[in-house]
Amino acid sequence: MTELLPLSGAHQGRSRRTCELKCGSACFHPVPNRSDNDYIGDVIESTISRRSVLRGGLSLLVIGAAGGMSLVGSAAPAEAQVGRGPVVLGDSRTGLRFTPIPSTPANVDDLIVPEGYAWTVLARWGDPILPGAPAFDKANQTAAAQAGQFGYNCDYVAFYPLGPGRGPSASSRGLLGVNHEYTIAELMFDDYQPGNPTREQVDTELAAHGISVIEIARGRRATGPFILVDGSRFNRRITATTPITLTGPAAGDDLLKTSEDPTGTVVLGTLNNCAGGKTPWGTYLSAEENFNQYFANNALVADPAIREAHARYGLPGGPSERRWEAYHDRFDLAKEPNEPFRFGWVVELDPSEPERAPVKRTALGRFKHECATSALAADGRAVIYQGDDERFDYVYKFVSRERYIEGDKAHNLTLLDDGDLYVARFEGDSPQAQLERYNDPATLGQLPDDGEFDGVGTWVPLISGGQSDVPGFSVAEVLILTRQAADATGLATKMDRPEDCERNPVNGRVYLCMTNNTARGTGGNPGIDEANPRRVDESAAPTGNKYGHVVELEESGDDAGALTFQWRLFLVCGDPSDPTTYFAGFDPARVSPVAAPDNVAFDSGGNCWIATDGQPGTLGKADAFHAVPVEGPQRGAVRQFLSTPAGSEACGPEFTPNDRNLFCAVQHPGDQGLPSTFPDGDFPRPTVVSVFRERGNPRIGS
Ligand code: FEO
Ligand code: CA
Ligand code: CA
Ligand code: CA
Repeated sequence: MTELLPLSGAHQGRSRRTCELKCGSACFHPVPNRSDNDYIGDVIESTISRRSVLRGGLSLLVIGAAGGMSLVGSAAPAEAQVGRGPVVLGDSRTGLRFTPIPSTPANVDDLIVPEGYAWTVLARWGDPILPGAPAFDKANQTAAAQAGQFGYNCDYVAFYPLGPGRGPSASSRGLLGVNHEYTIAELMFDDYQPGNPTREQVDTELAAHGISVIEIARGRRATGPFILVDGSRFNRRITATTPITLTGPAAGDDLLKTSEDPTGTVVLGTLNNCAGGKTPWGTYLSAEENFNQYFANNALVADPAIREAHARYGLPGGPSERRWEAYHDRFDLAKEPNEPFRFGWVVELDPSEPERAPVKRTALGRFKHECATSALAADGRAVIYQGDDERFDYVYKFVSRERYIEGDKAHNLTLLDDGDLYVARFEGDSPQAQLERYNDPATLGQLPDDGEFDGVGTWVPLISGGQSDVPGFSVAEVLILTRQAADATGLATKMDRPEDCERNPVNGRVYLCMTNNTARGTGGNPGIDEANPRRVDESAAPTGNKYGHVVELEESGDDAGALTFQWRLFLVCGDPSDPTTYFAGFDPARVSPVAAPDNVAFDSGGNCWIATDGQPGTLGKADAFHAVPVEGPQRGAVRQFLSTPAGSEACGPEFTPNDRNLFCAVQHPGDQGLPSTFPDGDFPRPTVVSVFRERGNPRIGS
């Protein structure tokens, strides 16, 4: 632990080098969003304070009910039931009965699961997956070898059944799509010199980025652990040099043209693929996130408008940390000022058709995409929720013009090329706003009168009906300069680093992870608002929102295509002994500590599984998977299920349809100054593991 930076401060306890490679040192730089669309509503008494009052009030109510009716016994928790409907404890669909593991010290170099569970390695960095790819040889890496091997720093994981329906065969053989977010050259190459890489090292890093598709299957009679299917025709690598077509309204725009691609329609590769999503038509969406860090010399760009555009996305003025520009002109902005406009998109890939080229869908906008998760609107249009992972940046939603047609893949593959793009505005329940809404016939009746939600919200249009809604921005400009377009509305709510934003297929609500924002309320940056309510502790060094929070959003009419919503805080993370934490009203004495919520997934019962990215630097604990029910008496009962090895981050998560396997991507083991030899006892290798139940009910968590 001694090599970790102090637990407070802007760097989340990571080493400076980790920050450089993971996100381009985003937290060390000034906040790139200098727009003045500060929260327009009242910055009122923090929601936490109000919730604390509410919590006390509910306790009284329970006592009153018990006193007046029957005694609340020990088997019936006294927590208030919040949510749509009561779910009885022991319900086979939502019941989570595993014994939580304690928080794991950050330097423990093991993947830990609850009693009765086990895990196996599915694929690790360097495992050959394409025909002819050599076995991994750390001392003799080449770009050519890496291009046929599993990439580095596995992140998002998506499972696609190859068997029909949701029966057993749907969960015993399938394709796994995996993102490879970024590389850590010091951990990859024994002879790496920071600031002075060799060409082969740089090209190997390019080949270690991108996406893998692998076929996996369970053993005989569909039992036993999953293993990689050698030689599968589906196995595939997309790297940072694979040609990818740009489609949609911005394709071919002048800003997307370079000397290598005067058409502005074909990009070499994809970078910093963080999380993503699965579409109803079976494709894989991969979100390009911190692409800024790969480029150098923004200060040398001649056109001030281009320079300013890049600055809003955090591109460095001088050399990059990676120095790829030494060997590839396209990463040097002095030579190719437009190349960064070709990153920051969502890539769509069909895992079932290896011959079909991946595409970047410009209609979804360009920013530091954490995710691109899908839902269907009530009328069948495709909806994509997206978070822009930057301090004080925004949550977005895309709604396709055309409707999804089951079974018509050719049609469905056009859906993400044409549609409306919105940015989220959250408004709190100030008494005045409540009064106005109460008297507004347009919204009357859509709102609860019990104070259940913390506020309302609007999807503010950036593009609708094929037209720009942002004065001064063309459609292509809205899509390429999406951050600036959202700034220009003056209406978008600046959030605490929006990460995964995903709709729960069981209750229809959208869960939005805000991983942290150490700049909230510090140094002239925006202060708290109701959707980002964590107060700066003025009595100590300002820490802003160090632990993050999760917002729960319900679209009006339960329609993913709606233009308004209601929202409430679901979790305000941290050590439960910290009075500013909030666990949906559940007793903090009975939950696991949780910090830096990053990615979410849902089991088939609708329980929310949260992967963390930053517990070592905030809680001093290993990153983890936590499971939390969203309904019933256990709503808010965060319980830790798994922890990942020293220096790593927990990514995924993903279930098979029958909930019998949980996939976890162990990203950057051995990083953050925490040595690791995971998984094989020699040197650290980013690894996807399959977690399963050894005995008892095979359903994970039950
Ligand atoms: Fe790749 Fe927003 O974390
Ligand atoms: Ca993250
Ligand atoms: Ca997710
Ligand atoms: Ca992550």
